[in-house]
Amino acid sequence: MNPAQSSSVNWPYPTLFAHRGGGVLAPENTLAAMKVGHAHGFAAVEFDVKLSGDSVAILMHDSTLERTTSGRGPVAAKTIAELEQLDAGSWFGDAFRAEPIPHFSAVARYLHGLGLMANVEIKPCPGRDADTGRIVAELCLELWADRLVKPLITSFSVDALLAARHAAPGLPMGLLVKVPGAEHLPVLDALNAVSIHCHQQHITADLVRLFHGHEYRVLAYTVNEAERVSDLLAMGVDGMFTDRLELMARQFPGYLADANKPMSDPMADDIDWLSVVPPMP
Ligand code: G3P
Ligand code: MG
Repeated sequence: MNPAQSSSVNWPYPTLFAHRGGGVLAPENTLAAMKVGHAHGFAAVEFDVKLSGDSVAILMHDSTLERTTSGRGPVAAKTIAELEQLDAGSWFGDAFRAEPIPHFSAVARYLHGLGLMANVEIKPCPGRDADTGRIVAELCLELWADRLVKPLITSFSVDALLAARHAAPGLPMGLLVKVPGAEHLPVLDALNAVSIHCHQQHITADLVRLFHGHEYRVLAYTVNEAERVSDLLAMGVDGMFTDRLELMARQFPGYLADANKPMSDPMADDIDWLSVVPPMP
């Protein structure tokens, strides 16, 4: 068994995660998005983190600014002072005008205030994999130091994950892939990972069985149809990322905050059976 899967690492996350904070209801990767995810009853959010040109961790999906901000050009070409001037809300709608690109540290504090769990996806700008992995992992250690539930760190970049693992040996980590297969098992082992996160379209019951057989959780992105959620649940998929917050909250209310569900029962190993006092008759 993978050491990271031992009894000391629990699986505290719910089945459904709000993708990029607020799915289709708010500008992605902003504080406003986190608020919307929380308002819809989600206990966990996923978001993307990368570095400004001067190495400050911010939330942003793309490596260029055009799609989701008022800026232009590569994120990595801008200082944090320049990024702070941009509007990351107006592209989505007037109600979100002047919503800033958030610092990762501000998001962490905001999530703590709301009591939200996090999947921190490390999304490096081109060529910045190791630096981004290291800096984001160090920040996770610091920002969640006094939190019981740690963030689940993920990335498509193995180099980013290796750097993150080196910086934070104890944090739960997942590998993002498009098409999962047995070839990912040695990578998961090398990363000391707890989960594999796959494109929902490529998940089958056999693959779930394969990864569960090796004690790895299986998560699916991005699942926006209720029927597919049901199918994936039936296969035993452990988690899903969704953009359709209203639909999922309505159809699957029991999966928004169902923490601590077993794959194998990770809690059982934590119990010191010799000190368990039998109940009084
Ligand atoms: O982490 C799941 C999902 O967010 C991965 O894809 O491109 O939406 O970050 P993307
Ligand atoms: Mg993502």
